[in-house]
Order: sequence, then C-alpha cells, then structure tokens
Amino acid sequence: MRTQVGIVGAGPAGLLLSHLLHLAGIESVVLESRSRAYVEARIRAGVLEQPVEQLLNDSGVGERMRAEGLRHEGIALRTGGRDHRIDLAALTGRGIVVYSQHKIVQDLIAARLAAGGDIRFEATCIGLHDLRTDAPFIVYEQDGRTHRLDCAIVAGCDGFHGIARDTIPAAARQSFDREYPFGWLGILADVAPSSPEVVYASHDRGFALLSMRSPSVSRLYLQCAPDEDLAQWSDDRIWSELSVRLARDGFALQDGPISQKGVTPMRSFVVEPMQYGRLFLLGDAAHIVPPTGAKGLNLAAADVAVLTRALTAWFRSGDTNYLDTYSETCLRRVWKAQRFSWWMTSLLHRFAEHSPFERRVQQAELDALFGSVAASTALAENYVGLPLIL
Ligand code: APR
Ligand code: PHB
Repeated sequence: MRTQVGIVGAGPAGLLLSHLLHLAGIESVVLESRSRAYVEARIRAGVLEQPVEQLLNDSGVGERMRAEGLRHEGIALRTGGRDHRIDLAALTGRGIVVYSQHKIVQDLIAARLAAGGDIRFEATCIGLHDLRTDAPFIVYEQDGRTHRLDCAIVAGCDGFHGIARDTIPAAARQSFDREYPFGWLGILADVAPSSPEVVYASHDRGFALLSMRSPSVSRLYLQCAPDEDLAQWSDDRIWSELSVRLARDGFALQDGPISQKGVTPMRSFVVEPMQYGRLFLLGDAAHIVPPTGAKGLNLAAADVAVLTRALTAWFRSGDTNYLDTYSETCLRRVWKAQRFSWWMTSLLHRFAEHSPFERRVQQAELDALFGSVAASTALAENYVGLPLIL
C-alpha cells in the first residue's frame, strides 16, 4: 500500500491534518490503534482559541461547532471570595468557543469518511522505517496481520505515549520536562453550569475550575495529588470540596449526577526538534502543557496548520523551505504557550513547598493582575490565542 502522507494517530492532530491535506489535494492514510467508538467518546479538552475556531470554519467542519459551541467573551479569576473578570472581548476584540474535543474528533471523522478518506481503526503502528530516505514506510498490525504503508512523509500524531517521538534517535533529540506536584480531579456532571463563563479559583485549599460542555452539562476540576486515589472521593465529597474552593458571596454551586470522573497528572514537556528526516511530530507527540491555559488542543491545531502549509508547497512545487523550518516555526508558538500555561498554573495552584513568603508573592501577583489593564490584556491575548503561524 502506498500514500503521500502516512499519519499515525486519529486524535485531533491526525484527523485535522488528514482533512486539511485532502483540501490541498494531498492524499493520506490515518492509522489509529483504538476503535472509532473509543476515540469518538474520549472526553478531553473543551476550549477553542479564536484562530482554531476560524480554521475549523474556514475548512468546512465548523457547522456543529457553530450550532452547539458556547461562545464566551470573558473568564473569571476567583480568589478571596472575589471575582476578577478578564474581559477577553473588550481587551482583544476576540473570544473563545467552548466545544468538546470529542465532538471535533467526531466532526473530522465524519468529514473524512464522507470525502472518501482512509482512516484505519484498530491499526497499531509498530515501526517507522527509513525516515532518513525519500522512501519511508510504516509497519502496523491490524486484524492479527502485519502490514506495510509506504509513504513520502510520516506524520507522528500519536500523542504523548505513542511511538513516533522515540523513533528519533536519542542523540538527535532533546527533551524539556517539568512534572508538577499535583494533578486535577475532573468530573463531568449532568447539571447546568453554575456560571455563564469559565471560573478559575485560587483557594488556600487548592485550585478549582468551573467549566461546561453544554447548557445542561458541567465540567469541573479540583487540584489534587498527582496520584490521588479516586476511590477516596465520593460524589458528595467532590461537590463539597468544589463548593468550598469556588465560594463567593452570591454564588451557589449547583450539584448533580456525576457521569465521569478521573485524575490527570500535570506536566510541561517539549521535544526538540519536532522533525527527523521525513518524520514530523505534531500535537501531544511533541509537547504537553498543563491544562490550566487550555492550550493542548489548540497547539495541536497550530502544528497542523504549519505542516499543511509546508507539505502543500513541497508537493506542489518542490519548495522545501517551509518543510525545513517546520520545527522552528512550531516551537516559536509552542514555547509561548508553554510559558503561558506554566504561568497560569504557577499563579493559581497551591504549592505545598511554598513558604509563607512565596504564598504572599503569589497572592500579590494576582492582585497586581487584577489592578492592571496591561497585565489583564497580556493574559487575554494569550488566552484567546496567538496567530496559528508566528
Ligand atoms: N499506532 C496508532 N495509533 C496510535 C499509536 C500507535 N502506535 N499510539 C497512539 N496512537 C493514537 C492514540 O490512540 C490516539 O487516538 O494516537 C492518537 C493521539 O491522539 P491524542 O493523544 O489526542 O493527541 P493529539 O491528536 O496530539 O491531540 C492533542 O488531545 O490529549 C489531548 O490534551 C490533549 O487536547 C490535546 C489533544
Ligand atoms: C475544560 O472545559 O475542560 C477546560 C476549560 C479551561 C481549562 C482547562 C479545561 O483551562
């Protein structure tokens, strides 16, 4: 079997890349180890930056997002029982859209299949070969048999735990890693959101986040140990702790049936470079951000935009300039998102090792932010999203 671009992974990065390449007249095959049902049901992120919203609309897969997405023009930072609203629209002229990642995956799969796209589910890639030649190939297992996919380009969209990144020889790559001393306990609940906008709460007991998926489904998180034992957290205990951390005069957190709960550890990670011969890494395969800044999905989309531009120029005219500079182009945006996500995480979470002095400095930084249009604007510009290609 042969194609132009072999894509490992049918998450947002792999699917969006296949879709945009198709629009550019470039064929691809997507290989996904999980089933279609699994990837379409995986609950992940929910905030779309304005440039990503525009990319989905411009590429013809924004119809359900426009119908079901929740447009927000601000977010609230809550501490000491007070809210400071970051007026995204007033400060930047733009907003965000809250729309579930799993719905984007569903929309992209539907679009690719309707266009005759080749997505192979339950197909696990076990090797990427001859990456330093002009004839790389992928070996994958499906239906108990081993297969080979010959291609001109290999796109590693297989997430943090995939095989693509580690296929690059250790001597040819450098990793930058920071693990945080906490994680997030996240819930999905069948109850109307208790706030019209996303609320980030910094409390002495720890961080909490109130988000949503629809007018009737809430998404909330609370800071916990990275290895927190979920069995110790009854629904009542979760709602009680969230109520304490999200407390504010005049605010009441509505609880309801919890349909899903899980603990996510938090880390910052980048691998450089994001390319090796004919292999290009995109999304979580190349970088991980703590979810505080809601950047993971959006960074994956930006990598896709950069590689689509590069492959379009290369396949059409043999121009290698964008391809040769793919990694440095992506990393300009990746590191700005890493800094923002690290800053938001450091600002809003409780660090057990913090001295009383450091805790006061953390609170003073929040106060300084609340009192400065310039500081609030800087937060807003990063939150609504930098241009996809810097
Ligand atoms: N062969 C085939 N598929 C694989 C392999 C493999 N060897 N290894 C991993 N995969 C698949 C996974 O099953 C998954 O569906 O690759 C896909 C990677 O998707 P994601 O992990 O969602 O990564 P990405 O597409 O970069 O999207 C990043 O997803 O994890 C969230 O917070 C993250 O919002 C961000 C977004
Ligand atoms: C979410 O809705 O899942 C969400 C919102 C904002 C974040 C992280 C996650 O910063």
